[in-house]
Amino acid sequence: MNWRSTAQNWGVLAKCFHWLVAAGIFGLAGIGLYMVGMPLGLAKLKLYLLHKALGVSVLALVILRLLWRAFDRHPDYPEAMSNWQVRAAQASHALLYVLLVAVPVSGWIYNSASGFPLPWFGLLHLPAIAPVSVPLAHVALATHKISFWILAALVLLHAAAAVDHHVRHRDPVLSRMLPWPTATPRSKRSRGLP
Ligand code: HEM
Ligand code: HEM
Repeated sequence: MNWRSTAQNWGVLAKCFHWLVAAGIFGLAGIGLYMVGMPLGLAKLKLYLLHKALGVSVLALVILRLLWRAFDRHPDYPEAMSNWQVRAAQASHALLYVLLVAVPVSGWIYNSASGFPLPWFGLLHLPAIAPVSVPLAHVALATHKISFWILAALVLLHAAAAVDHHVRHRDPVLSRMLPWPTATPRSKRSRGLP
């Protein structure tokens, strides 16, 4: 079991960060979209508090992940990938990281500009990161929603690209990111097919 990534494989920590953040984003998207349509009441308030506390936890995970990434390495890209494909993959990953920060930070700014408190699972109160301001709250909420939908679209593309690597190109890009060891499908070439 390797904590660090190697030329062939993602390390345990990189995989944990990837799948914890992905699960957090899916959960937050579900809670966020559901809670805004709920009638006013205690249940809605509780879901807002859960959404906000989980949201800052995911932001903390993303920051830790970026710090760890600075010390870790990226496994080699398959040789069959051309330069532009590698650059496109790197650019889309960079954009994913930008959005993974922009979505929770805009939510936190919206919360602060609206003058709402930010308790973290009843354990501590997180500070406001912006002054109370109605215009700022409007901009921050719009940013929260728009950046979320861009993130959702990019995640769809990202997952489709990962499956494409596995099914069509038959390279190890997806299998080496999965939490469990998986055999890479044998390439057509290694099976003597055209
Ligand atoms: C990566 C983390 C996050 C994701 C994926 C996310 C996602 C969402 C989504 C999908 C909505 C529903 C938007 C809509 O009305 O269409 C929402 C609403 C909201 N989010 Fe987040 N969120 C995240 C983090 C945060 C954080 C950290 C905060 C505050 C500290 C926050 C505060 C809010 C609030 C207050 C709303 C309700 C807005 C309203 O009442 O219209 N979110 N979020
Ligand atoms: C909310 C969901 C997701 C987010 C935010 C996300 C984000 C990311 C990011 C930022 C990277 C770049 C890692 C780095 O270079 O440091 C990455 C890599 C990767 N992700 Fe995701 N991901 C998500 C879901 C998925 C899903 C559902 C799949 C599979 C179907 C997947 C498959 C992969 C693979 C295979 C890599 C490694 C790519 C490579 O080797 O260059 N991801 N992901």
